[in-house]
Amino acid sequence: MTQVNIHTTNGSNFAIAIDGPAASGKSTLARLLAQRLGLTMVNSGAMYRAITWKVLKEDIDPHDTAAVMALLERIEIACGSDGIMSTIAIDGVDPGEELRAEKINANVSAVSAIPEVRRKLICLQRGYLDHSSVVMEGRDIGSVVFPDTPYKIYVDAAEHIRAARRGDDGEVDSIAKRDAADSNRKTAPLIVAEGATVLDNSDHTIESGVDAALEILREQGLVIED
Ligand code: CDP
Repeated sequence: MTQVNIHTTNGSNFAIAIDGPAASGKSTLARLLAQRLGLTMVNSGAMYRAITWKVLKEDIDPHDTAAVMALLERIEIACGSDGIMSTIAIDGVDPGEELRAEKINANVSAVSAIPEVRRKLICLQRGYLDHSSVVMEGRDIGSVVFPDTPYKIYVDAAEHIRAARRGDDGEVDSIAKRDAADSNRKTAPLIVAEGATVLDNSDHTIESGVDAALEILREQGLVIED
């Protein structure tokens, strides 16, 4: 894939926010956009999944807010990047593929609804801009993490298409249940952020989705040279 040159008005680091429901295709889109634009792709969902992984590993009830908060105090969360993609390790261990396990899918919404968990991770998410410009994907990137960025896309797709995509990936994931929990929680619910453009990914191929996103970013003022 060819990389394009990108220019910002003031030369400082910036964020492209990609939000949307489960299995809408935002990870793939964010990864390819980052690759095209030469930016770091940050998967904020992996951070919530990693905390959930540790919670379950320690046999903590994900709904026991006090116990999850106590765990947060004693673990070391290392967020970094391999130059292309974000990385995460908890107490020195990268959970890798375990982050996509069924039990993580089933419990991550409970853990991510805890305000203290969000506060801690948002701080780490914002920290990425100290090092590079990013394409960050998640649920609240345009609404809470980087509300002032002009570059915001909300990726959606019809529910049956999203469910089929997840099944094709071989994952057991009750996406409707997770979407309901993520959209109805009190803190940072999944919404179309102010200023975001909705990209309906239902009928796009991967490539045409990337092209549509680049067009949206141009309209939002990002100067992209082919
Ligand atoms: O890949 P998929 O879109 O299914 O999920 P993900 O992006 O890995 O996110 C997993 C879960 O983390 C979501 O269902 C949310 O509960 C939570 N999350 C969040 O609350 N805020 C974010 N910025 C990203 C993820």
